[in-house]
Amino acid sequence: LKNIISIKDFSKGDIEYILKLAEEMEPIARSQEKSSILSGSILGMLFYEASTRTRLSFETAMKRLGGSTVGFAEAGTSSAVKGENLTDTVRIVGEYTDAIVIRHNMEGTARYVSEMVDVPVINAGDGAGQHPTQTLLDLYTMKRLLGDIEELHVALIGDLKYGRTVHSLSYALAMFGARMSFVSPPELKMPKEVLHDLSAAGVNVQETEDIRDVLNYADVLYVTRIQKERFPDPQEYLKIKGAYTIDSQLLKGSEAIVMHPLPRVDEISHDVDNTPYGKYFQQAFYGVPVRMALLKSIIR
Ligand code: CP
Repeated sequence: LKNIISIKDFSKGDIEYILKLAEEMEPIARSQEKSSILSGSILGMLFYEASTRTRLSFETAMKRLGGSTVGFAEAGTSSAVKGENLTDTVRIVGEYTDAIVIRHNMEGTARYVSEMVDVPVINAGDGAGQHPTQTLLDLYTMKRLLGDIEELHVALIGDLKYGRTVHSLSYALAMFGARMSFVSPPELKMPKEVLHDLSAAGVNVQETEDIRDVLNYADVLYVTRIQKERFPDPQEYLKIKGAYTIDSQLLKGSEAIVMHPLPRVDEISHDVDNTPYGKYFQQAFYGVPVRMALLKSIIR
């Protein structure tokens, strides 16, 4: 693939290739080995929305491979504040760099940018749309910690309506034939188009509001934040906020691991962090080798 825009652009073979390459990158990600395979290459980082993990793991990945980065962490430090439009910005940065990573609050932005520039474009999250690099690191985490993804039952929990990570992940899990359950309040159910696509692909999904329905048989509890910033009406957010809290008491007897793309607010109690259930910090680290694999495969 030239661009990394949507997980739907990947075949299962493409995903398996990246996961295998990520495994080879792990010693470099852990600084046990040195690499200069992207020496002289520059990655443009255009973050119009806040980020910690995605931005910093891309920077780390690029630097571990001997390359460097330029860009901005908030549009407020770019010429967007003077009124420059997105098209002009990306055309300029496309001439300065060898690839662009972009996060934006508007769905479809990364695809649009990929049509404006000659260099490869990576979608680091576009509104409630997709977050394909997060999905690849989620799959990598499952494979590294639990083995064959095909054999897993994954419960996706929380904000399934606006959560771009769960939109991307559900398509990828369907490709692997993994079983899925969707757990959310009625107001935050998975969008109809995602359910339709999964059903057309012959995937049956259990939907429930009660997390206890999945605790006994899920291998992975993939928890997401209820995202205040995506609600058109703040009152609606306040009604649903705190709908799910996972703590070590609730998990007692379950054999599942707990994953979360982070940041969390109050969905996972801190008493889970140092138990065998809590794998979200390890998951965040795996963002580095996975993004190294992506950069190595798209930057020429
Ligand atoms: N998981 C994720 O996208 O985190 P950030 O918003 O911190 O990049």
